[in-house]
Amino acid sequence: MPAAPKPEILAAFEAAKGFMPADEGLVLYAAAAEAGALGLPLLEIGTYCGRSTILLADAARQAGVSALTVDHHRGSEEQQPGWDYHDPETVDPEVGLMDTLPAFRRTLHRAGLEEHVVALVGRSPRIAAFWNSPLGLVFVDGGHTDEHATSDYEGWAPHVAEGGLLVIHDVFPDPVDEFTGQAPYRVYLRALASGAFTEVAHTGSLRVLRRTGAGI
Ligand SMILES: C[S@@+](CC[C@H](N)C(=O)[O-])C[C@H]1O[C@@H](n2cnc3c(N)ncnc32)[C@H](O)[C@@H]1O
Repeated sequence: MPAAPKPEILAAFEAAKGFMPADEGLVLYAAAAEAGALGLPLLEIGTYCGRSTILLADAARQAGVSALTVDHHRGSEEQQPGWDYHDPETVDPEVGLMDTLPAFRRTLHRAGLEEHVVALVGRSPRIAAFWNSPLGLVFVDGGHTDEHATSDYEGWAPHVAEGGLLVIHDVFPDPVDEFTGQAPYRVYLRALASGAFTEVAHTGSLRVLRRTGAGI
């Protein structure tokens, strides 16, 4: 039976601003709980306002590890003013740019999970460039251009430990279904073709791969 979040964690997830539906959240939670058993940190690329972070944080708490979450907090292309995924509440009126860090901090505080999360604020490739330790799980949910999705994969997938999990969001094999581009799908195909990762679960646009070989 896959691990499931307690009702209060699921309620906090559903109350948080964000995009992930509950069925995908449950699969992400089960993956995080399983990966937590490796005793290594769980890392997310794409914090936004902390919706999915809640699940990683609670799984990390249960496993006695930390959740790490990477974001520059200025929003992805499709979240900018004028685009479909823009939320005016995420704009900092003083600087006139998106800033999702305050909402993220409120989300974690409300859920009682601040102690279990380390927020890494900056561009994913810049942080990955000096990262040098193994991770139990990497959840890729950052920028959806080919440039961003590829650099997230190349920067972070090498750190997934043997037996650890690589989770990719917004994988849309059919271009008819995609809203934000097919770059995550191309990264998913690349991971499978590498021979280093094997798919172990999926629901909706979420894919869970396990490291079963070396490389990326
Ligand atoms: C789809 S949202 C993440 C949603 C979140 N995981 C959730 O479930 O609510 C993508 C996030 O990735 C961040 N992002 C995009 N490109 C990035 C980059 N190169 N480095 C760091 N963060 C980035 C954006 O700021 C945005 O908050």
